[in-house]
Amino acid sequence: MIFRQMYDSVSGTYSYLLASRRGGEALIIDPVLEKVDRYIQLLQELDLRLVKAIDTHLHADHVTGLGELRDRTLCVTVMGRESKADVVSMRVSDGDRVDIERLSLGVIYTPGHTDDSYCFTMGDRVFTGDTLLIRGTGRTDFQNGDARMQYASIFNRLLKLPDETLVYPAHDYKGETVSTIGEERAFNPRLRVRSVDEYVQVMSNLNLPDPKMMDVAVPANLKVGLAQAEVANLGLALNENELAAMLGRDDIAIVDLRETSERERDGEIPGSLHVPYGTLGEALKPGAALHKLASAKPVVFYCAFGERSAMAVQAAQDAGLRSACHIQGGIGAWKAADGPLTR
Ligand SMILES: [Fe+2]
Repeated sequence: MIFRQMYDSVSGTYSYLLASRRGGEALIIDPVLEKVDRYIQLLQELDLRLVKAIDTHLHADHVTGLGELRDRTLCVTVMGRESKADVVSMRVSDGDRVDIERLSLGVIYTPGHTDDSYCFTMGDRVFTGDTLLIRGTGRTDFQNGDARMQYASIFNRLLKLPDETLVYPAHDYKGETVSTIGEERAFNPRLRVRSVDEYVQVMSNLNLPDPKMMDVAVPANLKVGLAQAEVANLGLALNENELAAMLGRDDIAIVDLRETSERERDGEIPGSLHVPYGTLGEALKPGAALHKLASAKPVVFYCAFGERSAMAVQAAQDAGLRSACHIQGGIGAWKAADGPLTR
C-alpha cells in the first residue's frame, strides 16, 4: 500500500495520500489548496490517478484543495451529508464506504468539532479529522460545534475502535505524527474527564482566539463549485420538469454517473444507463460505447447533486459530443420535486 502523510506548515494540517499500488487509483484526505502542485507532482511521480478527494469537515483554518484537485484531475469530491460546501460531488453518511481500487474506507459520523465532521477508517488506522487530535480534541466553539456531541463521538464511536488502531489526525501543532486509540484513551488530557458535563466544561473554558484564516477560509470553502454554473451558462442544464417530459423517450439516453452504492441507497431515474463517473474518461474515447451512444442521440447525465454530471458535460464537449447535457442538482433536486425513482 502507498500511504503518505503530508504536512502544511502554515496551517499545521496533515493531508493523506492513499493508494493500493503504483500505477493505480489514489485518494487524498484533507488536501490544502496551496499544496495542490505538490500533490499533483507526487501523483505523477508515483504514477497514480487521483479518483477521490475527501474533506473530513468544512475547514476554518485553510482553504481546501478539493476544488483545484477536481478541476485538475476530475476526481470525485467527497464530504459528509451535512456539508454545506458546494464543491461536494458525493456525499456520505454514517456506515457508508468510500471505495477506490482495492481500498475501502469506513465512514463514521462524528459531529462535535463541527456538525459536518466525519472520521474514516481503513484497516489498522483511523483518520480522525479534527475530532480526535494527538493529546487533544478539536475545538467546539464555532461552525455549529457542540462539546456534548463531540464527547459522544469520541467516547461512543472512536474509543470503541481497537486499542492498537493508529490515529491520524488532520492537525498537529507540535510535530506529532501518529498515535493510537489506546494511547489517547490513556494519556489524552481532554479525555480524562469523569462525565460529559465535565468535558463540556473543559471545552467551554478554552477561550481560544478565532483561527487566523477563518474569515477567509470558511466562505472560500463553502463556494468552490463552479462546474454547474458554467454548464448552466452554456444552456446545457435541465431542470426536473424538463427531465420529467423526457422519461420513456428512446431518442434520448439518460446516464447515471453515480457509484453502485449510491444507486442502491437512493434509487435511480427510470430507464437510465449506468456509467460510473470514474470510468467516464474511457467511456468517452472514440469507439467506446458511450461515445457511440452520444454521437447517435442526446445524452442526459445525472449524478447525486449535479457536480459530477456538470463535469461530464464538459468532458463530453471536449470529446466533441455537443449534445450532452445534465440535470442541475442531480438526484437531490429530482427527489425534492417528487420525481419517480426505481430501485
Ligand atoms: Fe477543523
